[in-house]
Amino acid sequence: MDNEWLRRWREGRIGFHRDAVHPALAEYWPTLGAVEAGKVLVPLCGKSLDMRWLADRGHPVLGIELARDAVEQFVAEGHGAVSRYRQGVFEVYRQGSVEVWCGDFFHFHVEQALELQAFYDRAALIALPPATRQRYAFHLAQLLPPGARGLLVSLTHGDGPERGPPYSVGADEVERLFASNFELERLTVTPPDERGWREQVWSLVRRGPGREGPNGRIRVASE
Ligand SMILES: C[S@@+](CC[C@H](N)C(=O)[O-])C[C@H]1O[C@@H](n2cnc3c(N)ncnc32)[C@H](O)[C@@H]1O
Repeated sequence: MDNEWLRRWREGRIGFHRDAVHPALAEYWPTLGAVEAGKVLVPLCGKSLDMRWLADRGHPVLGIELARDAVEQFVAEGHGAVSRYRQGVFEVYRQGSVEVWCGDFFHFHVEQALELQAFYDRAALIALPPATRQRYAFHLAQLLPPGARGLLVSLTHGDGPERGPPYSVGADEVERLFASNFELERLTVTPPDERGWREQVWSLVRRGPGREGPNGRIRVASE
């Protein structure tokens, strides 16, 4: 799977990349209540312009991306000086207040994640095959302190659960993956596009250890 991503970037097969900020980010991020100027983790970030949008709103951003081609394109298409340095197995590219850690998300450890206060997942969960998604949700939870808030943009399609990326990840699975560690609220579901794809936008808040209340309490916006 990993080599397939590197190949995709090398060959420019990056249909998932958007030339504009994702509308859900612009609409829902301001409603999340994320700490002002808090550092935002963007797992599996590609060269998403959403990172610049977050940085422009005062958030330091920490993206993690496997493909060096993606990271180099991101900084080449941005403005400002780029510094590069090594952090363990990662090569970090810093431009303004965005740093992109080039390497495998699953190798990023909690000691490296000390200042994180929020996260943004657009097309990260749905990029991963079924067997890896539980590991992703658990790893994400380990990296975030109690109270950290995030936005998750998931997607459903009618091609079956094994078909992807993007994989179809519906509400049942999002709840199963995240509810033990996060308070979840589904904010909206978009109407199907011409391929029958629908995006689901979720707000997540990292639960604290020993927190009271029923694990897995969920509010779900109607479709
Ligand atoms: C579907 S793309 C989404 C990119 C970005 N979030 C966006 O909205 O454009 C998924 C990205 O995850 C990267 N990726 C896949 N597995 C990864 C891993 N284990 N660690 C870090 N990045 C990974 C791929 O190279 C690809 O750029």
